[in-house]
Amino acid sequence: PRKIIIDTDPGQDDACAILLALGSPEDLDILGITTVAGNVPLALTSKNARIVCEVASKTDIKVFEGCDRPISRALVTAEYVHGATGLDGPELFEPSMPVQPQHGVDFIIETLRNEPEGTVTLCTLGALTNIATALTRAPDIAPRVKELVMMGGGFFEGGNITPAAEFNIYVDPEAADIVMKSGIPVVMMPLDVTHKVLTLKRRVEKIGALGTKVSKFIVDMLGFFERFDVEKYGSDGGPLHDPTVIAYLLKPELFSGRMCNVEIEIASELTVGMTVVDWWQVTKRPHNAMVMKDVDAEGFFDLLTERVGRL
Ligand code: BDR
Ligand code: CA
Repeated sequence: PRKIIIDTDPGQDDACAILLALGSPEDLDILGITTVAGNVPLALTSKNARIVCEVASKTDIKVFEGCDRPISRALVTAEYVHGATGLDGPELFEPSMPVQPQHGVDFIIETLRNEPEGTVTLCTLGALTNIATALTRAPDIAPRVKELVMMGGGFFEGGNITPAAEFNIYVDPEAADIVMKSGIPVVMMPLDVTHKVLTLKRRVEKIGALGTKVSKFIVDMLGFFERFDVEKYGSDGGPLHDPTVIAYLLKPELFSGRMCNVEIEIASELTVGMTVVDWWQVTKRPHNAMVMKDVDAEGFFDLLTERVGRL
């Protein structure tokens, strides 16, 4: 199995991504989960990550707490989407799994130094603060990363927190800038992809039909999560952003895109956090990311349903 670190700010869609990974032990070896502030403050994202592992009875997974704020900005959160807990919907509980004593950033550095070069994949589902902090502190780890698959950005689709910026990049644009300049091979799942994987009623019902504790937890989460998009935009479901990252590792053929140059806007007040994607190759700037644009949404939900059905 492929060795991964999941860096996350759960979040209902982060939780679904974690469950998709937990349901795929033959394919993915989760070395650790690192938490970051984002959708809600760090204490809650760390708690939520552990709740998700416990719901799936995977209490041997190690959860490390990372950075509690962006590199040089005040934290922006998204309770208006995810609820006050970050994981509103299901009945939540106090997790009994411990948080590991090591800081998440130290875990990332140590793991990349100890594992054979080119064997560890970073899966980022939130702001890139932990990864950028690790890269700044230990630049030697960059060439050791196999690949970084991120949910972040948007190009033709625009932004979801400002007209220009997607939330994960907007929360810590300086961190995203460091990552995009690091030389690490990046695969990007922008809003252009994630807005195509909607939690349609029939898809959620299929998950519910599994009839397990995990499936009920997912259905309860998604019932809350979709409310924002359904009420605000009249859409037929919520965009299940973060699981696309894990789905890519399991079935890359579900996605299509192209190699591009991606730069992060960090200066402009109007467009800060924008991912400037050179989709049409109008510059000679070097390609630094595989930017995905399309997804087989039915195949994606079939995969999700099948894998969480194993939990
Ligand atoms: C991203 O922002 C968060 O609210 C979601 O969990 C996802 O990672 C979507 O813009
Ligand atoms: Ca997230």
